[in-house]
Formats: sequence, structure tokens, C-alpha cells
Amino acid sequence: MSDRLFIFDTTLRDGEQVPGCQLNTVEKIQVAKQLEALGVDVIEAGFPISSPGDFNSVIEISKAVTWPTICALTRAVEKDIDVAADALRYAKHKRIHTGIGTSESHIRYKFNSTPEEIIERAVAAVKYAKRYVEDVEFYAEDAGRTDNEYLARVVDAVVKAGATVVNIPDTTGFRIPMEYGEKIKYLMEHVDGLSAGKAILSTHCHNDLGMATANSLAGIINGARQVEVTINGIGERAGNTSLEEVVMALKTHPYLGIDTNINTTKIYPISRMVSSLMNMPIQPNKAVVGRNAFAHSSGIHQDGVLKNAATYEIMDPKDVGIDDNSIVLTARSGRAALKHRLHVNGVEVDEERLDKIYQDFLALADKKKDVTDDDILMLAGADRSENHFVKLDYLQVTSGMGLRNVASIGLKIANEKFEAAATGNGPVDAAIKALKKIINRTMVLKEFTIQAISKGSDDVGKVHMQVEYDGHVYYGFGANTDIVVASIEAYIDCINKFVTK
Ligand code: KIV
Ligand code: ZN
Repeated sequence: MSDRLFIFDTTLRDGEQVPGCQLNTVEKIQVAKQLEALGVDVIEAGFPISSPGDFNSVIEISKAVTWPTICALTRAVEKDIDVAADALRYAKHKRIHTGIGTSESHIRYKFNSTPEEIIERAVAAVKYAKRYVEDVEFYAEDAGRTDNEYLARVVDAVVKAGATVVNIPDTTGFRIPMEYGEKIKYLMEHVDGLSAGKAILSTHCHNDLGMATANSLAGIINGARQVEVTINGIGERAGNTSLEEVVMALKTHPYLGIDTNINTTKIYPISRMVSSLMNMPIQPNKAVVGRNAFAHSSGIHQDGVLKNAATYEIMDPKDVGIDDNSIVLTARSGRAALKHRLHVNGVEVDEERLDKIYQDFLALADKKKDVTDDDILMLAGADRSENHFVKLDYLQVTSGMGLRNVASIGLKIANEKFEAAATGNGPVDAAIKALKKIINRTMVLKEFTIQAISKGSDDVGKVHMQVEYDGHVYYGFGANTDIVVASIEAYIDCINKFVTK
């Protein structure tokens, strides 16, 4: 008989902490509904005390989804717990996730406290949260670097106080699989409440050393029965454990006897959706969901796969929702086909929005032969920028070998028109210099990545940018068949992140 592993998705909390990748409430609801369809058990919807936006998102996500448990994060502070309980008021199944740092450095430097006092605070927080909800998860922040003997005392105390799940975060991504697995094993063997089934352990691994998935699996193999993950492994720094990697590792290794509730065919659509909404490109060689994850390029591999896919493929791409036969639309495709592809990619639209995207789709299909899923996700994303404060009105650029690079730009700022022109050492440089004549602030371009979506000289180019302004870095995205326009759109997207502040 298999053991059930609970999937706790924190894309909308820990994942969303990536600077510049914040989603608005409507976008979060879209992701939450898709997570429900995917079959996750718990959705961590936010950290309600941290901002009114997070508070509101937890409320709206609670209303929007039915069967997954909705979880809200708090510190071990009564006010945080009050606010989280309030935000969870509409959730059909609710959980408060409270906790405190337990490593020596957290106790000493962060809290200026003692190990005994930290246990008291942990117990008090769990008991306080229990006044509001039955399901309380406790996290021992920096458990990865916490001494095992002391950690067992913390876990024992919070389980006795009523915690139903105890999260063992490797907050700094420091551990290697053998060490993390041993930690979970030690806790399973030394905390009576765990062997008595009063609570389960949860893994929460960060990827600073590229070990997040391996560490999570080591934790599961040694007894953890919940895993905390994000779609595409997004998260601060090197990210969190990625849902798709853990789920497919378990599916391809049935002898481990661990089952999840995930409908794996929904993995690819939600992966694209999160990447597109957050403007976070997926590295082409990303396991399971990267563009090249199933692309065999060497002759020997291609020959083998054509004879029998099992020669070089350990997973069927269809099992993760990659459906090669149906990803191309053309200028002759109708609204219904477009709506269907949007739906397959997790984007639900009403007729009015469909009309708008359809017009953009026709314009794009006029410029390139085949319109792919990536293209239509990009179009659905472009449609979100309609209400931007600063908008590109027009851009005209002259450039070429032996010519001066000159750009003239028109912007609409709160519907007022502005124009400027400039020269530069290339077309993008000229366009940015012209833009800066209108938006006269000290902005520094920190990163600039150009990527063609699939292939062909008629393809849409995607541009990701990071612009530093006033000590903060803002991420922006642009997509267009004209790469200079895409670059300026990405720059303007960055500007919109701070001018509306
Ligand atoms: O990494 C971490 O320690 C966390 C906790 C707040 C759960 O995200
Ligand atoms: Zn974390």
C-alpha cells in the first residue's frame, strides 16, 4: 500500500517573493484555480499582515477555490495570527502557518533571545493560532542549520501544543541530501508525537546549492509526508523546490510507494501560466518543463527515440501535459480555437477580453505563419498592460551599417502625449536615450535579455529587463516581432512598476 504525500504549494507566498514578480489579486486567483485543478492539497495564499494586497488576496483566493486547504503565513506574533485568521474567514478548509527562527544565529542575532524562550514563544503562538483554527502548521525557520537535538525539543513542544504539521525549512539552502534526510529521520525517531501520528513533518527546501529537489526527496524517504514546493521552482535567490520535479520523480519511481493527488497532465499548462504572469522565463534546460526537456538533438538519441521513445525518454511528454499536435494556430483559426488554447494554458477569458486578444492574435498571425502557445500567452499578458500609466505610442528608428542610429519616440503618460528624439550607439541605445529625455529620472539598465520564443526570423522576440531606480531593481517584459519595440516595451514595463508607486 502507498503512502499519501501532501503537496503544499507556496508559489503565491514564498514564490511570489521574487523581486519584481508580484501578481495582482486577479492573477493570483487565476493561479490558485489552476493549482486546484492540478490537485494540490494546500495553497499558501499569502502573508496577510505583510500588506493590504496580501490580506486581500488571501480573502479572494479563499472565496475562489473549494477543496484545497488555504494557508496563511504569520510570525509567532499574536497580531499576525489575528490578521491571518481574519483573512481566512471565507476559506472552506483553513490553516495558519506560524513559526519562529530556531538556529543559533537566529536566536542570538535576530531575536536576542535564549533557546528556552524561543520554545515558549513557539508554543504560545501555536496555542494562540489553535483558538482560531484546528489545522496549525509550525515552521522552525532555519531548521536546516538548527542543532538536531534542540530541534527535536522544539518539534516535541509544538506538537504537544497542537501543531498538526511541523515544517522543517532549509531556509538558506545549505544542506545536502544526506544531512537533510538524517535530520528528518532523527526527528521521526525522537519525537513521540510524530510516531504516534499526532502531526506530520513537512519539507521546505531552498535551492541555493541546487539541492532543493534532492533534499526534499531525502526528507520524504525518511518520513516527511508533506512537501512545500513552487511551480517552476520560483522563489527568492535560487528559488524553492519545484513541484513538477518532486511529483515526476515520485511518479517515475513507484517502488518508493509514495502517492500524490497531482494530475500531472496539468503541469505544463500551469508552468507556462506562472512563467507568463510573473514574467519569469523558464530556463530551456529546466527539468520537466523547460523548452528542451524533451527535445532530442543528437543524431543517436533522435534515432533511438524514433525507434522507441523509451530508449532515451524516462517520461512521456504527454504525462506532463505537453501535447505536440495541438500547439499551432494560424490566421485562419477562429475565436473558439483561440479560447480553447487559452483554456488549455490555464487562461480563462470572458467574451470581451477574448475579442481584444483575438484582434491582437490576428495582427500577429499576419506577421508570422504559426502562432504558438507561447505567443498566445504573451498576447494574454500584453492585454494586462492596457491600463499602464506610461504607454508606448510610437517608435521610429533608423539604424544600419554606416548610418547614424536615430530614434523618435512618442509616449502617453496618463493619456497626455510626449515626444522626443535621440541618437545612440545602436537602435536600442538611441530609443532608450529618447525615452529618458521624457522620463527624466536616474535609471540604470542592469540586465537585458533577448529571447526568440521559438524559431524563425518572423518570430516574436521576448525581452526581459531589470532597471535600477532609487536603490531598487524593477523587472520588466516586452514582446514584439520588432526587437527594438520589445526592448522599449520592457523598459516601460519597468518604469510602470515605480511611477505608479
Ligand atoms: O524558508 C523559510 O524558512 C520560509 C518559512 C517562512 C516557512 O519560507
Ligand atoms: Zn522559504
